This record gives sequence, C-alpha cells and structure tokens, in this order.
Amino acid sequence: MGAFWHSFSDLAAVERDGELVIERGEGVHIYDDRGRRYLDATAGLWYCNVGYGREEIAEAAARQLRTLSAYSTFGDLANRPAIELAERVAALAPVPGSRVFLTSGGSDSIDTAAKMARRYWQLLGRPDRTLFITRERAYHGMHIAGTSLAGIEANAAGYGTFVGDVLKVAWDSAEALREAIALAGPDRVAAFFCEPVIGAGGVFAPPQGYLREVREICRETGVLFVADEVITGFGRLGDWFASRRFDLQPDIVTCAKGITSGYLPMGAVIASPRVVEPFRAPGAGMWRHGYTYAGHATVAAVALANLDIMERERLPERGLGLESELATALAPLAGHPLVEEVRAGVGVMAAVQPSTEAIAEDPSLPTRLVVACREHGIMTRALATGALQISPPLVMEDADLRELAEGIGAALDAIS
Ligand SMILES: Cc1ncc(COP(=O)(O)O)c(C=O)c1O
Repeated sequence: MGAFWHSFSDLAAVERDGELVIERGEGVHIYDDRGRRYLDATAGLWYCNVGYGREEIAEAAARQLRTLSAYSTFGDLANRPAIELAERVAALAPVPGSRVFLTSGGSDSIDTAAKMARRYWQLLGRPDRTLFITRERAYHGMHIAGTSLAGIEANAAGYGTFVGDVLKVAWDSAEALREAIALAGPDRVAAFFCEPVIGAGGVFAPPQGYLREVREICRETGVLFVADEVITGFGRLGDWFASRRFDLQPDIVTCAKGITSGYLPMGAVIASPRVVEPFRAPGAGMWRHGYTYAGHATVAAVALANLDIMERERLPERGLGLESELATALAPLAGHPLVEEVRAGVGVMAAVQPSTEAIAEDPSLPTRLVVACREHGIMTRALATGALQISPPLVMEDADLRELAEGIGAALDAIS
C-alpha cells in the first residue's frame, strides 16, 4: 500500500490484504483494474443516481472548464451555472420561495445547517436556542457538527465532546422527541435533525405516522425541522425530495450526492422563507460563513447536466417504481438461514441484515459477506448494523435486479 489513506478504514487490514482499485464505470456496473466487473449495489456511496459514463456530464464539465473553471462566490460575486443551479433546486424544493446555499458535500451541508439554525435564533434575539436534537442510528456526516450529531455511537466515540449542546432521542419515537424538548425547555432548542429514512445507520424507514408527528411537534414548539436528505434527495425516495413525498415542509433541507450523481462533489442547504427572512432583514449584517468551492462553476455545470438527465429520464418517478421492484427482488433472501431480515420498500434503499446473533458470535461475518459478494460480482458494503447496503443507481433494469439478488444469494450460500 502506498501513501493513500483510505476513509473509514482499518489501515493495518488494508496494508495486510491490499486495496481494490476501481478503474471505470458504465451504467450500473463498475470494473476494477484487473477487468473484473461488478454490479454496483450501492451507487458509489448512495450518489450515482444516473449511473456511470454519462458523456453529456463530461462534456458539460469540459465546456465549463474552458470558459471559467471556478471563481469566488463570496459577497456579491456569482457565476451563471451557480445562479441557474440555485434556481433549479429552489424550483424543486419542498417549500416554495426557498433559497439555496451551495456547499462541497453532505458534511458541509450539515455544518452549514447547524450554524444557520443557531444564527437564525441569534438574529431573532433568542441566543439561548442552541440545542440540537438528533436520533439514535443517525448519520449526519463526519465534520465536527455531524460527528457530534451522530446517532451511530461508534462514529462519535474517541474524540471527546465537540459540540456539547446535543440531545439524542430514540430513532422511532415521536413521544421521545416531545419529552426531550419539554425537558430541555423549548426556548433552548434550536433544531431537530432528521433523516426521513435512516441510511448509513442500517436503512430504517420511519414507523407509520412518525414523520408527521415529529414535524408537528417541531411546529408546536418552534423548533426548526432539518430534513437531512443527503441520501434521500434527488430521486432516491421516488420524488425529488422525501420531504415532498411525505409533505414535511422542512425549515431546512440538507442535500448532496444525487445533486451531481457524484460526478463532482457538491452539497446544498435549502432554506425555507421562514429561515431566510431574518438573514435578509435590514441590519442583519454579514453572515460570516461559506466555502471556497461554494457555487463552483464547473461543479454547478455538472449538477445542471445531471438534473437534465434526471428530468428527461424521469428518474424520480423511476425511483418510485423501482422501490417495489427492488423489494420484490430482494424478498426471497429473507428466507436464507443467515439472514435475519430484508429491510426494503421505502425508496430505492434496502438492507440485507445478517443474523445479529451470528454477527455477535463472529464479528467478521459482515466483512466476509461483502468479500463473498464481490466474488459473485456484486459490489456492496456493510452498514452500521452489519447489514448489506443496497442503494443502486436509479437506472436499474429488470436483468440488473435479477443479477443483484442472485449474486447476493450466491454469496450468502458461499459463506454459510
Ligand atoms: C444522511 C447523511 N448526512 C450527511 C452525510 C455526509 O455527507 P458527505 O459524506 O458527503 O460529507 C451523509 C453521507 O453519507 C449522509 O448519509
């Protein structure tokens, strides 16, 4: 192994076992440097919604690079692709009249949302509203804010306290949120962070009525409702945003990934008029926040080309159809002796959960299963619960679904 430090890795293990180099992608498949082909069950890290190898995105990037690669968007500066992208995203946003703050990825978006929420309350003369409430199992990225908001314990462990003002509640109980707000005092709480469907925590859809109830509790108590749609935005939940599908009308939406399908890195924070208002009031002054690559012209051009494809090929609608097709394709795996359950049926997101007892006995089971999947032509990874992540590109065809389910089935058989 050379100098490259792998993310989320056990460096000693990578040094021992070597690295796997992915060389190219085409549609729903990727190829390694030895020419082996894999069906990409995860769309990279939940992002490649339009699939790989889209010429028109590459051309959009090349065109923009020749015109203006990038320029600062601080203060009054802007560029055409960034302006156009903000308008496009605002038009798709769950709340009309929203504004779009561009970032470089999901963790940036979470940091921005946390600072935006606190600044909002400051501007309203309520500086004590600094508390954030988050859910067990939550993944909100790996910046300092996101690490502090993490509901996946292992992701927050070992650093001490970064942001102290965080309360964690059960992921599936609206009552727990109500109690936490009452206990802290509503005048202390800035925002509630909520993934409409929990992703990296293991793919857990909200219980019936949960999202409606937590939304209502936030409304009653004035707490800002932040929908973390880094995974669920841009088609994966069968609509442009899960918040649209479930009519959440969030105060703030964080997104990333599908906005460019990962062709270049980008994130965004969509702020509803309620949140924007105090920032644009006379006397609000400068909000000293922003990133060098916010509104990067070439990334924005890529995002626009990606949205063109999503619109033309109606990928959010395709996502809605794929939701049940994926659940049907994976359902038989639930009968395998190694499998505890298959969680699927809300969005193009699923998890094949190996028996938690078996994982307790042999913690290497999820890794062995991932390796076996690779050997059977399926690229996936293990989530926080040891489940296999299934979140393929939204361009999956019937044959791809069959390939996916058969490959995982064969991998399960191989390690049984
Ligand atoms: C729900 C959620 N929020 C935030 C993030 C962080 O995004 P990024 O890894 O682009 O910083 C992720 C990443 O997977 C995510 O799933």
